[in-house]
Amino acid sequence: MSVTRRSGQGPMAQGSIVNDIIIAPSILSADFAKLGEEVKAIDRAGCDWIHVDVMDGHFVPNITIGPDVVKALRPHSSKLFDVHLMIAPCDPFIEAFAKAGSDLITVHAEAGPHLDRSLQLIKSLGKKAGVSITPSTHESAIEYVLDKIDLVLVMTVNPGFGGQAFLPSQIDKIAAIRKMIGARPIRIEVDGGITPETAARVAAAGANVMVAGSGVFKGGNYAENIAAIRAAASRARAAAA
Ligand code: DX5
Ligand code: ZN
Repeated sequence: MSVTRRSGQGPMAQGSIVNDIIIAPSILSADFAKLGEEVKAIDRAGCDWIHVDVMDGHFVPNITIGPDVVKALRPHSSKLFDVHLMIAPCDPFIEAFAKAGSDLITVHAEAGPHLDRSLQLIKSLGKKAGVSITPSTHESAIEYVLDKIDLVLVMTVNPGFGGQAFLPSQIDKIAAIRKMIGARPIRIEVDGGITPETAARVAAAGANVMVAGSGVFKGGNYAENIAAIRAAASRARAAAA
């Protein structure tokens, strides 16, 4: 899976897929009154991906954005759109998010009875597929789909809101998933409460895609915040490799 959407870089070597640190700001913490400008701003500030949180008020106790907003944001950045579906059911909406310009679509293992079918649907639409698990779900729940995915998203908060405290209880799960993945070209993404301090801890455990909402948007210096998370995670990842 190439890092950036339209750079033309070919598939990355296994080492890079495991070790390169990817920063994906969550636009849930952006100013919703000017989302297009905010996407441009984090792009200019050096992010690698754009993390888009989709919530339906059912799977999680919050409501955010739909495919039309993804479509409206697409022209504002050529970076990879990392779309996190916290909706149940998810299958009826996957095609709309694919057509709206998503590059990577992640569904929750808890969202419905047919995870394998949802992943096949994402792949059939020519998109990259990810699976996410909440803090209450054991990693064994996704072992049977490892050969069908490009990314595992480990929630390090209970999904539904930005600005929550990081759950250290999820660090061992990241290490277990890194072991479970073995030599497969699968990235581990973490989401929730990511700061330079927690980024170092999850990177040491095996994660390399850092989603950060409040960690990037707080204080308004996006470039400085992105660089601080990247530096902390890269040091820890290099030390663990
Ligand atoms: C929560 C979302 C996260 C959230 C992260 O359910 O999936 O992406 O926006 O926000 P922070 O980094 O502030 O915890
Ligand atoms: Zn998210």
